[in-house]
Amino acid sequence: MKKENIPMIFLTAFIVTGFLVVAQTLWAHGDEKHPDNNQQASHMQVMYALKDNIPQEYRIMERTPIVPDQESLTSGKALYQQQCALCHGDDGRGNGPAANGLETPPANFLDLEHSSIYDPGEKYWIIGNGSGETGMPAFEEIELIDRWHLVNYIYDLQASADKKDGDKHHH
Ligand code: HEC
Repeated sequence: MKKENIPMIFLTAFIVTGFLVVAQTLWAHGDEKHPDNNQQASHMQVMYALKDNIPQEYRIMERTPIVPDQESLTSGKALYQQQCALCHGDDGRGNGPAANGLETPPANFLDLEHSSIYDPGEKYWIIGNGSGETGMPAFEEIELIDRWHLVNYIYDLQASADKKDGDKHHH
C-alpha cells in the first residue's frame, strides 16, 4: 500500500462512520413518527427499543458460541423447566401458569416472526439483563454458559416444533 493512500483511508473511514451514525439516528426518529395503531405495533416498538440497550457485540452474533449438542440441550432443558416454563410454557408457547398475571405476555418462542426480532446474542443478553418493563426478569444468577445452553434450547424448541409441523403436512 502506498504511503500517500493512508490519509485517504482514514478520511473514508471517518465519512462512512459519520454516515452510519446519521442514518441510524434518522432511522430511529423515523420510527417514532409513526404512532402505533395497535398494541402489537407498540409491543414491537418496545422490543426494538430494547435493542438500544444491548451492546453491539451481542447484537451482531448470529449463532451461539456453544455447540447445541445433546449435553448443551439437556442442561438448557433442565434449567428452562425450572426457571422459564412458568412463564414461557413447557413447549415455549408463552402460555405458562404465570403468564396470565403479566401485562406483557411472555414471549412465544414458537412465533418465529416475533422471536426472530432477537438474534442469539441478544437472547443471551436478555436472559442475564431482563427486558426492562416487560416483566422478563434478569437472571443474573444463571451462569454465563448456562445462558447459552438456554438459548440453544430455545432454538431447539423452535426446530422441533417446526419438525412436528412438517410431519403434520406429510400425513
Ligand atoms: C415472570 C415471567 C418470565 C419468566 C420466569 C421468564 N421470562 Fe422470558 N420473557 C418474559 C416476558 C414478559 C418477555 C417479553 C415478551 C416479549 O418481548 O415479547 C420475555 C422475553 C424473553 C426473551 C426475548 C424474546 C425472544 O423471543 O427472544 C427471551 C430470550 C426470554 N424471555 C428467555 C427467558 C428464559 C431463558 C427464561 C428462564 C431462564 C425466562 N425467559 C423466564 C417473561 C418471563
